[in-house]
Amino acid sequence: MRKGSIVALLGFGLIAGGVAAAVALVPTWLPEDASREAGRIAFTFWFVIAICIFIFAIVAAVMTYAIMHFRVREDDFEDGPPIHGHTGLEITWTVIPFLLVTSIAIVSAIVLSRNDAQAQNTLRVNVTAQQFEFTFSYPDANNATSPVLRLPKGRSVELYMRSEDVIHSLFVPQFSQKEDIVPGLVTQLHITPTRLGTFPLECTELCGLGHSLMRSQAIVMEPAAFDAWLGQQKKSAAPAPPSAPSTTSTSTTPTSPSAAGLSVFNSNGCSSCHTLTAASAAGTIGPDLDKLVAYAQQAKQPLVPFIHESIVNPNAYIQPGYPKNLMPQNFGQLLTKTQLDALVAFLAHSAQGKKG
Ligand code: CUA
Repeated sequence: MRKGSIVALLGFGLIAGGVAAAVALVPTWLPEDASREAGRIAFTFWFVIAICIFIFAIVAAVMTYAIMHFRVREDDFEDGPPIHGHTGLEITWTVIPFLLVTSIAIVSAIVLSRNDAQAQNTLRVNVTAQQFEFTFSYPDANNATSPVLRLPKGRSVELYMRSEDVIHSLFVPQFSQKEDIVPGLVTQLHITPTRLGTFPLECTELCGLGHSLMRSQAIVMEPAAFDAWLGQQKKSAAPAPPSAPSTTSTSTTPTSPSAAGLSVFNSNGCSSCHTLTAASAAGTIGPDLDKLVAYAQQAKQPLVPFIHESIVNPNAYIQPGYPKNLMPQNFGQLLTKTQLDALVAFLAHSAQGKKG
């Protein structure tokens, strides 16, 4: 091989490799990592990209060189010389891809097994997915529930995920992992947050009309702040002592029944699906709650029992124009009696205000 050819091949290779590397490195393709697992996944990604750029540079260089130097002359109608293969070349182009693909498999296997490995002192969080919301509950805090996923920085977390209805999928881009949530199964996801902040948490499996609204947040907190929050949840989720006053009495509630109901409404994602002026909610997937008085009349029921039944047993009366089973069937069970009563009172009060 002539020296000039080698220089030309190298030059083409460097140019092609440089352009490919710029395309890979200059735009921000991935969100900034916020977990140890995401860092390992990013490593695998860049490992594969580096191999791809290397192969691309070789192929592009050889192709450009061949196009320029082995072009057929205009008056040349001859067939090329017969070639019966080249054993050395064939072994080379089989062995190199074999080694590269095997190395990708090994790196991926190591990353997967490390990402799934249980660490010491793992925090367990139970995740319930249903159309169209996530609920997170903490066994360390008497199963206190939260509509957002709060996690302590630096601690290993294991999510145990169940679905109440159809297949959903949990995804936080900054954690790089996705896991399906399948009815009848408990799927797991292991996360070790490394960065404080609030990150979007979304459903990434088309699960019905409200799929695009099935969003929440993952909030990574300082461990001390998280422990304080968890302690607070534990207290409020503690079962009431037997001597506690009746939960229907509002005299012991520090907030007004309306404010309490509004906070139940807001913290349970009702606004994703329903319209309610009193809560500045404009969802259109479920019935318009400003029209509850008219709906109760159509259902031939008094307002308050109608609202109560529609929450605890949503299929009892289906407003024409809306499908059955759209409202989470166990929604009422997720609320305490106090929360349920506050929500019913709030909805009845807001609907009556709308009547005139
Ligand atoms: Cu749940 Cu999409």
